[in-house]
Amino acid sequence: MPITLKINGRSQTVDVDGDTPLLWVLRDVLGLTGTKFGCGMALCGACTVHIDGAATRSCITPVDSIGDAKITTIEAIGATSAGAKIQKAWLDHEVVQCGYCQSGQIMSAAALLAGNPHPSDRDIDDAMSGNICRCGTYVRIRAAIKLAAQSGVKGG
Ligand code: FES
Ligand code: FES
Repeated sequence: MPITLKINGRSQTVDVDGDTPLLWVLRDVLGLTGTKFGCGMALCGACTVHIDGAATRSCITPVDSIGDAKITTIEAIGATSAGAKIQKAWLDHEVVQCGYCQSGQIMSAAALLAGNPHPSDRDIDDAMSGNICRCGTYVRIRAAIKLAAQSGVKGG
């Protein structure tokens, strides 16, 4: 059935079953392949996007549950203040190793910083604990989030 989604500032109508996970629509229907498939069970965080600013696992989010909410993916996160700071800090700290988990890591970190510009270590651990990195980049991720926070984030 036709479903209209607001993705990265554009309305996009797709013809899929309502229970199709958002991740499938992003990658296979719309070609937004920056968002990754890892586990398909909300266990790894690779598929994280923002829905109305909240970090959300797109692999378990049926498209018919989203309604008018605004979806932001890794392709557009750099247009937000928090996303731009996070991406710059990621580069400054050379966080990425294989890269597979990193879209999800950046989306979770950007959501954290947009809502909490000065996160404590505990806040960072809580926000990032669901994002798994098999390459073990956790130390650099934490350092990059702190660097981004120090550089000052203005709202979303
Ligand atoms: S693919 Fe969604 S949490 Fe792993
Ligand atoms: S950078 Fe390789 S899984 Fe995280």
